Amino acid sequence: VRVAVFISGGGSNMVSLLDDMAREGHAGTPCVVLANSANAGGLARAAERGVPTAVVDHRPFAGDRVAFEAAITTALEPYAPDMICLAGFMRILTAGFNDEWAGRMINIHPSLLPKYKGLHTHARALEAGDKRHGCSVHEVTATLDDGPILGQAEVPVLEGDTPETLAARVLVQEHRLYPAVLRRFVTGDRSPLLLQS
Ligand code: GRF
Repeated sequence: VRVAVFISGGGSNMVSLLDDMAREGHAGTPCVVLANSANAGGLARAAERGVPTAVVDHRPFAGDRVAFEAAITTALEPYAPDMICLAGFMRILTAGFNDEWAGRMINIHPSLLPKYKGLHTHARALEAGDKRHGCSVHEVTATLDDGPILGQAEVPVLEGDTPETLAARVLVQEHRLYPAVLRRFVTGDRSPLLLQS
């Protein structure tokens, strides 16, 4: 299964996915890492792993999401991906693009969905006084952070946690969860995976 990974920043989740796909018995192979900015640090990390990279800067499209996504589709063509993993990709995709990739595009979100869709998830969990927090991998649908859940990993919220300390604890679990879910997803296994920590 040819896997495209979309990033916007450092790509630590992308690195975890690529490194796991390089191990034995994985039915997925990374065909391209695509970023919406040439400054995305993950591009160098993909290149040093020998994975092709592509950049489609969203800024020239200034809010014309459909035109931006058409440029993405064109950029993907040479790599012929079978599916897309969004990994720290910070652009919202339209219903049209989601429909085109329905059932073939997954995302990792740093909360225990359906709680805390959107941004600032760690601060919101602290604000709410939650004792447990975590991350979720889900199928992407037209509604933001809303598709079927494929996996979750939980972490404890500790005394004195800040959004930064909590985010760091969650990120460690993201790097466990996302590869574990992708390994199954590419075999057609959609059964939800719950990781404890
Ligand atoms: C992190 O905050 C992570 O929780 C979320 O996207 C951000 C960047 O992740 N998934 P990455 O290091 O670029 O994968």
